[in-house]
Amino acid sequence: MATKQNPLTPTGSAALPETFVSQLRERFTSRRADQIDIIDAILEDHKALKDLIPLLKGEGTYTEKRGVFAFLAAALEAHAKPEEQTWYKSLKTQDDMKVEGLEGDIEHALADQLVNELKATTDEDLFMAKVKVLAEMLEHHIKEEENEMLPEFRQNSTASERRELGAKYLKLRSAYLTH
Ligand SMILES: [Fe+2]
Ligand SMILES: [Fe+2]
Repeated sequence: MATKQNPLTPTGSAALPETFVSQLRERFTSRRADQIDIIDAILEDHKALKDLIPLLKGEGTYTEKRGVFAFLAAALEAHAKPEEQTWYKSLKTQDDMKVEGLEGDIEHALADQLVNELKATTDEDLFMAKVKVLAEMLEHHIKEEENEMLPEFRQNSTASERRELGAKYLKLRSAYLTH
């Protein structure tokens, strides 16, 4: 488990979300954006999400999970929106992957809805229940992307198409991380 780079600890001594966001921003700065395959960029961003998911599914307190959720919401937005606007958009142009692209959009919309409800709720029990459902949904979604959709997409695309999408993905991603 990659807890070493994780700015959070289960005891709640968390770095500020701004620090976390700047770490996300710096992930690709040493590499040329036009040479990054979108599959690699997506997998790299999944790592940040996969570090946070167990903290939301596990034994933590309400206060700890509130803190972790703030990080997750920032990481998720900066990943999901660019993913929809680049990778899913491309999947939906391919006859044999269109349904997967639509499925991805629907799962993202459901996660968005839960994130918005979680931001608004002041009921601690409801928060704990919803945040666990969100974590489980994301875990399932990421597994499906990594085990099924990305390998199939790799087979049906060229390296230059993936680099072109990678550049677009990173451009959108940095816009979501700066606003
Ligand atoms: Fe996704
Ligand atoms: Fe993803």
